[in-house]
Amino acid sequence: MSKQFDVIVIGGGPGGYIAAIRAAQLGQNVACVDEWKNSQGGPALGGTCTNVGCIPSKALLQSSEHYEQASHHFSDHGITVKGLSMDVAKMVARKDTVVKQNNDGIQYLFKKNKVSFFHGRGSFVKASADGYEIKVAGATEETIVGRHIIVATGSNARALPGTPFDEELILSNDGALRINAAPKKLGLIGAGVIGLEMGSVWRRLGTDVTILEGLPTLLGVVDDQIAKEAKKAFDKQGLKIELGVNVGEIKTSKKGVTVAYTSAKGEAKTLEVDKLIVSIGRSPNTIGLNVEAVGLKLNERGAIEVDADCKTNLPGVWAVGDVVRGPMLAHKAEEEGVAVAERIAGQHGHVNFQTIPWVIYTSPEIAWVGRTEQQLKADGVAYKAGTFPFLANGRARALGDTTGMVKMLADATTDEILGVHIVGPMASELIAECVMAMEFRASSEDIARICHAHPSLSESTKEAALAVDKRTLNF
Ligand code: FAD
Ligand code: NAI
Repeated sequence: MSKQFDVIVIGGGPGGYIAAIRAAQLGQNVACVDEWKNSQGGPALGGTCTNVGCIPSKALLQSSEHYEQASHHFSDHGITVKGLSMDVAKMVARKDTVVKQNNDGIQYLFKKNKVSFFHGRGSFVKASADGYEIKVAGATEETIVGRHIIVATGSNARALPGTPFDEELILSNDGALRINAAPKKLGLIGAGVIGLEMGSVWRRLGTDVTILEGLPTLLGVVDDQIAKEAKKAFDKQGLKIELGVNVGEIKTSKKGVTVAYTSAKGEAKTLEVDKLIVSIGRSPNTIGLNVEAVGLKLNERGAIEVDADCKTNLPGVWAVGDVVRGPMLAHKAEEEGVAVAERIAGQHGHVNFQTIPWVIYTSPEIAWVGRTEQQLKADGVAYKAGTFPFLANGRARALGDTTGMVKMLADATTDEILGVHIVGPMASELIAECVMAMEFRASSEDIARICHAHPSLSESTKEAALAVDKRTLNF
């Protein structure tokens, strides 16, 4: 007889593994099915985020930033480094170790929480009186049955039409994170989050990096003032970004890759590079799920259709993370996973889509929560803005990193914080206070009246709040 579970989670990325753990904490009998294989063919829990996304990219960003600091900034502190060199293969091996630590950590958490793990591809067979039958095709094949199913199958990199990924010359995020020697010339298509993060890694290691972006402005979703400040910093670093281009034919040869494109001015140009990373967005992944067998509805983008509570069109079937609408972020997937597990257990799980933070881990980092100034204008909301530059922050000066600013936007009448936008050092950490403030519907005055440690970068958030009321103390 098939094994019976209260909850079967398909996908062991941040959406799936967190949902499985939370459901198990709430007393459910839980299985998680994940097909990701490590280089030995064994399981590698954690999905895109752990294996070829958030974690490995941040490991490489950290290593390359250390190199950048040693190459260009240590001397400001009186430190002389002789014979500095970069062992890229070692950097990549370290990244692999960090990934494995995370894979193993999730396996341990499954054991600790008594989540049954099945390594293989999960697909719908049929709905039965006991729930849904899920076939698991791995080293062996078996069928398990779940009263509730949570689909968390993530997303895949989008290829350019007619230019499939070969992961040698034309790379998705997967191949991009496995480059093991600094290319002389690297091209990227798409100056979005991956383009800027991966472009930064290789630029820091001495590669000549060119990013071709289709849109006429950089980072359209980011607050305009913040995006402009970031662009200035990238230009200064020598990260070449060509905006408003139209990418044409892409040819590969023994020598590398040639990209034909039309510039914003309409000139026909070519870019010759050793390798090309294509980072033009991701598509929801439902490959091999056999949704037809049970009639699970997808939308026109191929995402699983869900309501605000992550319920699909089928009773007892839920979907979370990159495979559904909304931003493709690990923490968004996790929040949805927790909320669904709580709803299954009869609780009132909650995700506030208005306060999901974004972080781009470039240097300077870019982080934001809530609405941008351009969105507030478009929405016809009367607002007040306050900015504070890191140049005027003592800790930033001591760090030797004064690029950027904190910008706070508050409602003109109620003073409720509507958005906070940061470009600068440790923006990824500074944004947490702002998310918390918005979650509790704080006013800018609330932040302005909270004692912040001195000297700390977080004083810039307080000063930006003071700036909303035109009473900064240090600028
Ligand atoms: P995934 O992490 O994609 O996991 C899905 C899992 O399901 C995979 O293990 C897959 O093998 C498995 N699966 C799929 N189909 C089946 C099936 N039929 N049967 C069994 N298993 C199946 N987000 C951030 O918040 N911060 C970052 O810094 C960040 N950096 C990123 C960097 C890169 C280069 C990339 C590509 C993404 C990054 N992201 C980041 C996005 C983040 O990785 C995703 O939003 C997140 O992984 C989504 O989680 P998920 O659980 O929905 O799906
Ligand atoms: P993206 O959506 O961030 O950026 C894609 C960029 O490519 C856009 O600027 C778009 O205008 C451009 N583009 C699209 N088609 C093009 C074309 N034909 N020619 C030229 N430019 C083109 O997507 P990206 O960078 O692939 O990342 C995918 C997702 O992964 C992100 O949206 C994000 O959700 C997630 N991610 C999150 C990270 C983080 O949180 N720090 C890091 C990396 C990825």
